Amino acid sequence: MSKNTLLLEGESASEQAAQLLGQGEGVALPTETVYGHAARADDKNAIAKIYEAKSRPKNHPLILHIAQQSDVTLWAREVPEDFYRLSSKFWPGALTLVLKKNLSIPDEISLGQDTVALRMPAHPLFLETLKKLGTAVVAPSANPHKELSPVSARQVWKGLNGRIAAVLDGGRCALGLESTILDLTRDLPTILRAGPITRTELENFLGKKIVQPSKHTTKIAGNMKAHYQPKAKLHVLTRKSLPTLFLSQDSSEVLFLLYSNEAIEAYTQTPLLQSHCWAMPGDAKAYGHELYHKLAMADELQVKTIIVEAPPQGEEWLAVIDRLQRAQG
Ligand code: TXA
Ligand code: MG
Repeated sequence: MSKNTLLLEGESASEQAAQLLGQGEGVALPTETVYGHAARADDKNAIAKIYEAKSRPKNHPLILHIAQQSDVTLWAREVPEDFYRLSSKFWPGALTLVLKKNLSIPDEISLGQDTVALRMPAHPLFLETLKKLGTAVVAPSANPHKELSPVSARQVWKGLNGRIAAVLDGGRCALGLESTILDLTRDLPTILRAGPITRTELENFLGKKIVQPSKHTTKIAGNMKAHYQPKAKLHVLTRKSLPTLFLSQDSSEVLFLLYSNEAIEAYTQTPLLQSHCWAMPGDAKAYGHELYHKLAMADELQVKTIIVEAPPQGEEWLAVIDRLQRAQG
């Protein structure tokens, strides 16, 4: 497709999005995590367009986005009790659940696996579009493969203009990091991707142990070491190893993303460093909300190197740490 991508806004936006999706087009939709590149789940040609638009390799299965919990039986088999408990508590929301797939699911979605990933997103415009469309959609993050996931319609447009039919503008994503993925097909529920909902939250709620590999090196589909990368070279450094002297005047040369009061004070009080430093929030959720947004802004300014002050080690920071490791590659 070489036509310009439409920006859908205003009252009829979800109606227009549903119409385009109904015709088998790809449309980017806002979710509370990141923007998703949606296509109807019952149309193989529409799904094929996603892989093409994103240059996505055929070893990353797609997450199915459904409008209500009860639709699960259309897509999954042998649905365990934990699914109903978790989805009653956390849906709509940033938790993707992996189940045994219904055997009728097109292989374009599950790519040879016996499982399917399901999520009910929380953004009202996404849910409105799903209801108008009347069927589920698949929706990977709406970015070219390996690049940053977009958290605004503008970022989607910059990455995929001309490659998708439209993007529905739903503002900045509330969470800003991709959903937690929890596999319910193993002996113990296992976190495949750290995200906004933490292991402790899940364990406390379910009252059972949840497995979370300390590093996501397990060979699960799509779990790549280098992913979610800005165009700039990114390095994560501990506070002690941050440079205290920096001579270049050119603020596109290096940018520092700092979160601790100590580092921010030191940098903002040093004239030569001041213009190279952006302050990040000290709270994990707020940091997650800002991370991709700030990295995308740095790319727009054509910053060459981004140095990130390593965030703290607490569990609530795991999703941020995971994305920074992958951005570093
Ligand atoms: O927050 C999100 O999950 C966003 C929004 C748009 O909903 N979606 C998203 O999709 O991040 P995507 O495709 O960019 O990442 C989905 C990840 C991929 O790494 C994929 O390999 C994995 O989920 N995945 C999908 N189906 C799976 C399955 N059946 N088993 C294991 N991993 C699966
Ligand atoms: Mg993605």
